[in-house]
Amino acid sequence: MKNFILSIIVLYTISCAPDKAAIDAAPFPILPIDSVDAGKAMTLIQTHCYTCHSPSAPEKKDRIAPPLVAVKAHYLQLDTSRDAFITSISSFLQHPSTEKAVMKGAITRFGLMPAQQYPPQSIALMAAFMYDYQIEEPTWFAAHWKDMNGEDWHQKGKLLLPQDKTSSISDLALSYAMAAKKELGKNLMTKIQKQGTEKALQFCNIHALPLTDSVAKNHQASIRRVSDKPRNPKNQANNEELKVIEKYKTYLTTEAEAEGQISYVNDSVYYYYPIVTNTMCLQCHGSADQIGKPTIAAIHQLYPKDKAIGYKENEVRGIWSIKFKKLK
Ligand code: HEC
Ligand code: HEC
Repeated sequence: MKNFILSIIVLYTISCAPDKAAIDAAPFPILPIDSVDAGKAMTLIQTHCYTCHSPSAPEKKDRIAPPLVAVKAHYLQLDTSRDAFITSISSFLQHPSTEKAVMKGAITRFGLMPAQQYPPQSIALMAAFMYDYQIEEPTWFAAHWKDMNGEDWHQKGKLLLPQDKTSSISDLALSYAMAAKKELGKNLMTKIQKQGTEKALQFCNIHALPLTDSVAKNHQASIRRVSDKPRNPKNQANNEELKVIEKYKTYLTTEAEAEGQISYVNDSVYYYYPIVTNTMCLQCHGSADQIGKPTIAAIHQLYPKDKAIGYKENEVRGIWSIKFKKLK
């Protein structure tokens, strides 16, 4: 029976393929972005993209995706107009697919970018920012581009000035959470790409908490990843955190950017930011079928009290819970 359903899904997917053009031509629910709020766009990119498209990871080792500047360079090769650039980046982000991809070599090396739902306005803003501004570029990139394409690379765009960057206390808190997310995400993706889900699971088991702790130490903050349905009982959310999670479950939509929640108690800052699933997470947090037998067995062995399964895409898996002392 299961196989039967599966083959229907497969057939359905295949028979849908010719409709790809229809998806692409569907009215884009995106308003034109005339002037870019650079600080906001930069924060979005740091939040959503740098986990994988890190500008600081080296060229050959430890990469899980090309740097974002490589993406910019390839899309500029297609068409140099601002509208075309924004449209094609946005279209890929809405539905990543091998057919649409420009960087076939990157797909071979890293696999297709996992689909994730971003609010349409955020997508357009990030794409416009990538076009209008110079984004962070690894030092090795220009030489690499020359090797591959035989032409010099000079990144187009305005320079991001210090005053463009926002520096509110919630941006600071968010940056702590994102530093931890980047560290965890990078290690997780590398393991999955190189050694598969089961090995990656063992890795999370041993390293997830020490990794967030080490980022926390760097920032003199407490950084926790907590859930109402934890895998590791140490990540159980407390009462306050449970309330925040429930709130995100009710209000979080795919139409608007998630907002962190901040509160102050005496001289401490408490900050919460939602953790939302994407397709990639389901191989360890989805249905039994999505996870697969060997990984399920390993989960049961490592986490006899596991509650963190049965998730779908775009669900609140938990929150980042950050605490630090207010700077005087
Ligand atoms: C979970 C990891 C991950 C995240 C997060 C991620 N990407 Fe990607 N992305 C990849 C990988 C891997 C590739 C290379 C393979 C491919 O082209 O699909 C890629 C490729 C791309 C491409 C080029 C696709 C092509 O071949 O034409 C674009 C555009 C892109 N990413 C934009 C973004 C932006 C913007 C963000 C942030 C909103 C983002 N990505 C977040 C992993 C990620
Ligand atoms: C390779 C398997 C694997 C994948 C893929 C994976 N996780 Fe997990 N996840 C784990 C393991 C194992 C733990 C427990 C870590 C520990 O012992 O601290 C965990 C813990 C968590 C926690 C902390 C709360 C808890 O349940 O203990 C959150 C939040 C979380 N994962 C979210 C995600 C999200 C979001 C994604 C996708 C972006 C994801 N995970 C992908 C294996 C995975």
